[in-house]
Amino acid sequence: MSNLSQEVAKRRTFAIISHPDAGKTTITEKVLLFGQALQKAGTVKGKKSGQHAKSDWMEMEKERGISVTTSVMQFPYGGKLVNLLDTPGHEDFSEDTYRTLTAVDSCLMVIDSAKGVEERTIKLMEVTRLRDTPILTFMNKLDRDTRDPIELMDEVEDVLKIACAPITWPIGMGKGFKGVYHLLRDEVILYQSGQGHTIQEKRIIKGLDSPELDEAIGSYASDLRDEIELVKGASHEFDQEAFLAGELTPVFFGTALGNFGVDHMLDGLVEWAPTPQPRETDQRVVQPTEDGFSGFVFKIQANMDPQHRDRIAFVRIVSGSYNQGMKARHVRIGKDVRFSDALTFMAGDREHAEEAFAGDIIGLHNHGTIQLGDTFTAGEDMKFTGIPNFAPELFRRIRLKDPLKAKQLQKGLIQLSEEGAVQVFRPMRNNDLIVGAVGVLQFDVVVARLKSEYKVEAIYEPINVATARWVTCSDDRKLDEFQRKNQDNVALDGADRLAYIAPTMVNLNLAQERYPDVEFHKTREH
Ligand code: G4P
Repeated sequence: MSNLSQEVAKRRTFAIISHPDAGKTTITEKVLLFGQALQKAGTVKGKKSGQHAKSDWMEMEKERGISVTTSVMQFPYGGKLVNLLDTPGHEDFSEDTYRTLTAVDSCLMVIDSAKGVEERTIKLMEVTRLRDTPILTFMNKLDRDTRDPIELMDEVEDVLKIACAPITWPIGMGKGFKGVYHLLRDEVILYQSGQGHTIQEKRIIKGLDSPELDEAIGSYASDLRDEIELVKGASHEFDQEAFLAGELTPVFFGTALGNFGVDHMLDGLVEWAPTPQPRETDQRVVQPTEDGFSGFVFKIQANMDPQHRDRIAFVRIVSGSYNQGMKARHVRIGKDVRFSDALTFMAGDREHAEEAFAGDIIGLHNHGTIQLGDTFTAGEDMKFTGIPNFAPELFRRIRLKDPLKAKQLQKGLIQLSEEGAVQVFRPMRNNDLIVGAVGVLQFDVVVARLKSEYKVEAIYEPINVATARWVTCSDDRKLDEFQRKNQDNVALDGADRLAYIAPTMVNLNLAQERYPDVEFHKTREH
């Protein structure tokens, strides 16, 4: 095997999907602990430390602070190299989450075993379906009173339409949680409470029939034997092919807080989850082991480090490798650029990457030339597809308190819109700046970030805009005419792309009827 093939074969790139509070953060901490990336779990974020106002807004700010260090975490496990991509938890950030899910090859679904399948998990599963992403499942919080495990699996199968193959099975729950039985290894792993911050020394009992088991867990042992018989008869067996097709999920039980069971899941991940997968472009499918470098931008974050005002573009490498100082073609602008100081993300610390391979993420400093969805290649003109940006549904005019800072305002807005959470529209007819968002909280976030990061104070005014569409037309003359005749409604977005802003849906429908050659796009597919 070539060096590249070996490196690709080592990699597993995944993200965690869950409903808020199911335990994503806690699992992330434990996963890093196992990756030896943290000496002692509990340093991923200070979510629970410090006094924070309990508003959603603050939650978002905290998350943003947190995602600085945990956007991408790489760590070794079981002879493999795992990349864990963070997905912001807040509702209003869901677009960002969707795009991050285009950059992974598998997902871990975390379920609160007391609550079962919750609404956000359903939505996120729909997104993973678009690419049939393989899913592993962790049933969390077994140290609490939970629902019946069989019922939980049934719910996953019914609601999420994915077959469940239990890999481990819980013994008791809540105060009576004794551990799990590993169906494939035929071993019982005993749980000790109060050891969550360490990697536990575990007592393992080989074989379900061992008398040692009766001695260790008493009457639970015979219950377990009966239950396992039932479970084996009633549930699916693990099937690698069905897993890779996104049709079956291996299920693990445990407690993230107690750091129990997370390692079983990780063992499954490195053994079964796919290596970096091919990706489609508008020209052809790109294989990870191709020599030529290629990758796409799935996330941009402004001002990660307030001291340096840097903006980082996160690139998922699809094929080949990255080397310090290499050149790549920035396809959208048709230029070769040098990657001089890309970042890698070893467990929270940004470091200079000497090398990175297909499946890895690198961070490029963005000075305004990189947009979400941009493709970099070894020279080939092709563009990765499937990285969406959704048309905003809410609009406000934004205005300065101090009119002298107009330039700062525009700059701030354009940079924040690069992250994709809001759009900024600049009508061609006047100097208005219109902010469009998918969720209402984004408006507050924008004003607060403008103040803290760009030192401008801005306020909103209502504006009569109902919807926006990006417009394209294969005939330049027709597009010119369209622009001229609709001066009141055309605008440029943050990336200078033409958009039509409509005061009403009726107005939009009329425009669409009147200009059949012009295409109106609800998503700006990057
Ligand atoms: P999230 O990122 O998915 O939103 O969830 P997070 O890990 O922050 O966990 C949400 C809450 O659930 C936290 O409690 C966390 O401690 C708790 N939790 C996570 N895993 C387990 C588990 O296995 N067992 C139990 N009993 N609890 C778990 P919190 O009350 O918000 O914070 P804290 O004050 O307990 O730290």
